[in-house]
Amino acid sequence: MTKKLWGSRFPKKTSVLTDRFTSSISFDKRLAKYDILGSIAHAKMLARKKIIPEKDARAIVKGLNVILKDFKNGKFKFDARAEDIHSNIQEVLFKKIGSAAHKLHTARSRNDQIVLDVKMYIKDEIDNLLGLITSLEASILKFAKGNPRIIIPGYTHLQVAQCVLLAHHLLAYIESLERDKERLRSCKERTDQMPLGSCALSGTGLAIDRNFVKKELGFAELTQNSIDSVSDRDFIIELLADLAIVSVHLSRMSEDLILWSTKEFNFIDLDFSFCTGSSIMPHKKNPDVLELIRGSAGKIQGNLSNVLILMKGLPLSYNRDLQLDKPPLFDTIDTVGDILEIFVELFKNIRVKKEVIAEKLVDESLFSVDIVEYLIKKGVSYRDAHDIVGRMVRDCLDKGRKISSLSARELKNYSKKLAPDVKKILNAWASVNLKTSYGGTSPRLVERQLAVWDRHLRGVYGYTTPRRCVR
Ligand code: ARG
Repeated sequence: MTKKLWGSRFPKKTSVLTDRFTSSISFDKRLAKYDILGSIAHAKMLARKKIIPEKDARAIVKGLNVILKDFKNGKFKFDARAEDIHSNIQEVLFKKIGSAAHKLHTARSRNDQIVLDVKMYIKDEIDNLLGLITSLEASILKFAKGNPRIIIPGYTHLQVAQCVLLAHHLLAYIESLERDKERLRSCKERTDQMPLGSCALSGTGLAIDRNFVKKELGFAELTQNSIDSVSDRDFIIELLADLAIVSVHLSRMSEDLILWSTKEFNFIDLDFSFCTGSSIMPHKKNPDVLELIRGSAGKIQGNLSNVLILMKGLPLSYNRDLQLDKPPLFDTIDTVGDILEIFVELFKNIRVKKEVIAEKLVDESLFSVDIVEYLIKKGVSYRDAHDIVGRMVRDCLDKGRKISSLSARELKNYSKKLAPDVKKILNAWASVNLKTSYGGTSPRLVERQLAVWDRHLRGVYGYTTPRRCVR
């Protein structure tokens, strides 16, 4: 079993219950790579500053590189009974190189080490998530470009509202995902501060070179206050908050697709590969994957609350409570990554039911605002125009008539300004063509937006599918 880093002060062994309860190796083992890289940089710095002998540092670095290689090849065997990843690697290093390993922990504490590991992990995971979000944007864009001339009824309050282009609706998802990426990039910037050298909480009397370690590990800056260094978990909270917002977007997208795939809406057909059946009702094809995505968003909000509540009563500086920030952090990153990967694929195989959708566009209430605007263009005030069209819609509903069936005289009865040429705008294409205000759903504008996103996604990021990080 891995030796405790603090055992000698204790006159007796800790209870097995304590060992089991306090151990974090089961989850912090995923930080192994970063722990090793941090230790390599630290050992090099200790030798440069002549705090430990050069030959010991060389042995440490060599040993750690072997451990890193073993870890990457999946040959590294974690000690399930180790207290944490730091002790585990320290112990394995000792077994490999002997007493030189005992010099590694000079001018370092697990308090600054764990912050370093998590920050390095988060920086990598943010890059990975940025790549996945970009892949999803590209997948949505491809779907939109493949269906450029589909008009759907748009909804407010889940009641039929006005005609919009399907591509316009899909581009709305991309807008929200792009904001998500901005938030993640800015979170990464604030995470990019190197904490090592803060030691337990007060710094050290040994002549270390924090800047050297910062450069070795590719950090942009140093943390400025040793107490804050080991106490701060804002970067975790921030990432969890950013991903909570991502999950809200993914959940709302799921909800749209769930609704659109119902018999009642019937806009789309989801591919069987992302649905499941019923054990009792043979006819069923259920959108379980999308429902679980929607459900997972709840868990992800919970993970954010979990860490916020964990932090709120903690006195400065380090407290062991902080160990518990990792399970919610890892869970959120994994879940969001999984969902993004699913969505990239799911969008590739959605079939749009053009004919069914077209039938829904004959509902003339979709054009009520267009008639209001027709009247406004003829000098009628907004208020009067709204009243006129309101009366017309009500009468037509009561009498089971269509607006397009009203005679010239009937139209005149509502307003002198209402001529039969109004019927030209009572169709879906006319309706979307009218929406030419910047950001509106007119096909010309949407086409331009599609091209802008195409250039942006191709040019800036490319369409690569990113690598998932190790779990
Ligand atoms: N497992 C600990 C954590 O996640 C590592 C730091 C432990 N430090 C200590 N003094 N016990 O925060």
